[in-house]
Amino acid sequence: MTSRTRTAPAPAHESGDLPVSRPDASTVLADPEWWRTAVIYQIYPRSFADANGDGMGDLAGVTARLGALQELGIDAIWLSPFYTSPQKDAGYDVADYCDVDPLFGTLTDFDAMVEAAHARGIRVIVDIVPNHSSDAHPWFQAALTAAPGSAERGRYLFRDGRGTAGELPPNNWASFFGGPAWTRIVEPDGTPGQWYLHLFDSSQPDFDWTNEEVHDEFRRILRFWLDRGVDGFRVDVASSLVKAEGLPDYHPGDDDEMPPYEGRAAVHDIFRDWRRLLDEYPGERILAAEAWIKPLARRADWVRHDEMHQAFNDVLNFWDASALRASIDGALTAFGSVGAPTAWVASNHDGIRTVTTLMFTPAERAGGVGPRTTGIPSYDQSIPRARAMAMLMLALPGSAYLYQGEELGLPEATDIPDAARQDPTFFRTEGEQYGRDGCRVPIPWESEAPSYGFGTTDASWLPQPEIWGRLARDRQQADPDSTLNLYRAAIALRRERGLDAGELEWLPGYAADVLAFTNADVTVLINTGAEPVPLPAGEVLLTSTPHDFTALTALTTLAPDTAVWIHA
Ligand code: NOJ
Repeated sequence: MTSRTRTAPAPAHESGDLPVSRPDASTVLADPEWWRTAVIYQIYPRSFADANGDGMGDLAGVTARLGALQELGIDAIWLSPFYTSPQKDAGYDVADYCDVDPLFGTLTDFDAMVEAAHARGIRVIVDIVPNHSSDAHPWFQAALTAAPGSAERGRYLFRDGRGTAGELPPNNWASFFGGPAWTRIVEPDGTPGQWYLHLFDSSQPDFDWTNEEVHDEFRRILRFWLDRGVDGFRVDVASSLVKAEGLPDYHPGDDDEMPPYEGRAAVHDIFRDWRRLLDEYPGERILAAEAWIKPLARRADWVRHDEMHQAFNDVLNFWDASALRASIDGALTAFGSVGAPTAWVASNHDGIRTVTTLMFTPAERAGGVGPRTTGIPSYDQSIPRARAMAMLMLALPGSAYLYQGEELGLPEATDIPDAARQDPTFFRTEGEQYGRDGCRVPIPWESEAPSYGFGTTDASWLPQPEIWGRLARDRQQADPDSTLNLYRAAIALRRERGLDAGELEWLPGYAADVLAFTNADVTVLINTGAEPVPLPAGEVLLTSTPHDFTALTALTTLAPDTAVWIHA
């Protein structure tokens, strides 16, 4: 039997305020290539921390909790939208791109948050939503009262309808949220009028990016936030800003081409222009694309040297070793071919939380996981895969995105009653799809506090499940076996061992349901199969199983649904 050694990660400090062993803030922030290897933590402001107790998270809440993120060891935060918005799509419907919605605070709160984050060596990325605005945006309101063909209508995609009296939508496109992608307006004189395009909810009209005024406006918005010190932008729907000329019908399967509202060549000119603008600013400010383009080889177009820095790779949300291996290879090859890092994503505010998602096949979870889903495994049955997935993602070279609560091992909230649901997807599909509320529930900080420490009162904009008490951060901080401490140890080791800047090499000789590779001086094994796998020789650095450290020294096999990092 091979003898093994291992040091348990020290439990995190109770206050969440312990300085971590990293260079000081100014050194960290000076690194020009930081984005190639950064661990970036997504904050969903509605659900992160609520400083004023109204049940909705806010920017002051973020500032107050930054210590916990510094302690986790992340490099940057990305905040989903906090701009002025009617909140029809949780803030991805922006009415004023250059102000903070009173729900979340003020611009002064924003500045204080950026300053506090930078003081801790944490960069700040904000979301920008250029495909569409809110219907409450002054431009859209002006378009509604202006005439067809006017300059006001020309900022959006208004068209006459088809049919004898314009009663049919201009084309056959469907909204990503269900239902048609067109809504007909009533003209100011009371007659049925033109239609406008909305790839998402009807409250989110698409801009017309062939209009130079739209380009100018977004340059102004980028500068507004860059001048306030942001380190970059996550670009919403970065694949769809430009639509095919003439807005033709979409016939899926006609050929291998993308839909007429995705991946048009001219979209890249926009981001080249934005890149030049960002490069005028000191420090390396970044653009990260949300571009769900397939195949991955095409997605790499977004990260060519003169465009964006990163594009998300959402390839880590299923539990199938062969498919994972192929996806990882595909991403590394595609992004490597243009000299860009991969930006790995296991979960975000749009998907089912990892703990739950990995227990279902994509077909089984297609409509979401909720009250009517049968056979939802227990938490204890579900958490091992998510922990192993964390160790897979953090062992891969490149940048990694964590979605708030992922580090706590939060499961999907599957018991939200219909009456409490807020996601437009739920309503536009008449409940056929649960939508995304289950991953957006306010997160737990203290197990015994009102709203589990999310805020100062019991208020929470979505109901929190009881298991939040067990998974609250304070409970996990002191427990060396907790998921929080697993993430903390993996993030630290990943940097220390150079996995983030390393190279992956698959190891031969393992069964098809085992992922086995080396990166830097670490051997990584993930067992997705049903049988234990013998471990190779070497010092065990980390395992995903909660364990007693004495037993670990005698560990010879890797159990199903677990992962291990071994010093090769
Ligand atoms: C992608 C965002 O992540 C999602 O939350 C939003 O609903 C759509 N884009 C529309 O902005």
